[in-house]
Amino acid sequence: MKFTRADFPAKFVFGAATSAYQIEGHSFGRAGSTHWDTFATGPGNVVRAENGAIACDHYHRWEDDLDLLKAAGFDSYRFSTSWARILPDGVGTPNEAGLDFYDRLVDGCLERGLRPALTLYHWELPSALADQGGWVNADIPNWFAEFAQVVAKRLGDRVWSIGTINEPWCVSILSHLMGHHAPGLRDLRAAARATHHVLKSHGRAVAALRAMGQDNLGISCNFEPAQPATDTPENIAAAARANAIYSDLFVTPLFHGHYPKLAMEGLGPHLPDGWENDFDEIRTPIDWLGVQYYTRAIVADAPDVPWPSVAPVEGPLPKTQMDWEIYPDGLYDLLTWLAREHSGALPLYVTENGMANDDEVLNRAVNDHVRADYIDAHLAAARRAIADGAPLAGYFAWSLLDNYEWAFGYEKRFGLVHVDFETLQRTPKASYHALAAALTAET
Ligand code: FCB
Repeated sequence: MKFTRADFPAKFVFGAATSAYQIEGHSFGRAGSTHWDTFATGPGNVVRAENGAIACDHYHRWEDDLDLLKAAGFDSYRFSTSWARILPDGVGTPNEAGLDFYDRLVDGCLERGLRPALTLYHWELPSALADQGGWVNADIPNWFAEFAQVVAKRLGDRVWSIGTINEPWCVSILSHLMGHHAPGLRDLRAAARATHHVLKSHGRAVAALRAMGQDNLGISCNFEPAQPATDTPENIAAAARANAIYSDLFVTPLFHGHYPKLAMEGLGPHLPDGWENDFDEIRTPIDWLGVQYYTRAIVADAPDVPWPSVAPVEGPLPKTQMDWEIYPDGLYDLLTWLAREHSGALPLYVTENGMANDDEVLNRAVNDHVRADYIDAHLAAARRAIADGAPLAGYFAWSLLDNYEWAFGYEKRFGLVHVDFETLQRTPKASYHALAAALTAET
């Protein structure tokens, strides 16, 4: 790595991130069924129909995993709470074993000097709520606020921060319009409603948490800034539509109290009754914005496909195991754009950034220098953004461990630490060692 802590502001937070369903092992500890368990049973939904029943068995191995974070010199651990582990029926009586698990995890962080950065929802919706339409149901803001309160009542005195929803775009558009994630719908009306209900759920939960005395509250949005394949007016317009329904779709309501104009072309007719009156709740003040960035998109106009009528075009840059272009400048552009156009002086945290690589263990080592270079280049872009005024306060690598990469099953490896999914053995990769050396270096 070409940086040390001295290259960043004094209080800059370095961390690594995971999420509940991707690592814990959802068959353990009396967790309720989730829509990912059943989505995985649908033909063609998930590579080899894999699910999170065992995952990394973090439910039993969490102490070793926290030790790995501490040994690397991280300041913080970003993890999520499974709604269905805590409330197996989505609402009602909590599963004490679930709350006890997160209680131990939070204490384990504190014992190791790691700040617990909790995300409430990272995608494993309880099946009982999915049965009622999940994010499409107008009651979900109340269900979600109840879940937030149950979590805060038990853990709120010890966590450092609480993020409401991980990647609202994935929860709504990827899952309800594109069909790639649970519940696998391809339906503009469902996507419009999910979009709105995700935003309302976030606002309602923030207000409920604030009323309980919680602070350091935020939300993590993902961004994939779109560039036109060529500079024809058609392709430029296509890129504008792509941005309206992705990178702009949540920050515009969160910070300006309305939907992007171009997004309204498609979503507008399908928003739930009274949506115009919800922006005060949606804009409930937050303390930070989480920024998740992996790559850019290059798009062309595609008049033959349904709105937003855009088609992806392959870019020229080197790609990761996901086929995503490696484009660190995009992080600089994104952070400075957010501060300039949307979030102003509000602290920004990169809450996810990283890459998948087809890593193998050879002689008990994993040579993933390509990942170390990826992280180094993105941290360099982050430093440039800070120098140009972006109020970036921290960076979390995705991910601590190789894990269940949703529709890709266990095939795509994003970890700083390799996981053998037969033996569940952990092997820190070269990128882990490189980050550890940078974070623990005397400066
Ligand atoms: C993000 C998700 C995370 C993981 C990474 C690769 O969209 O938040 O769970 O899948 O991408």
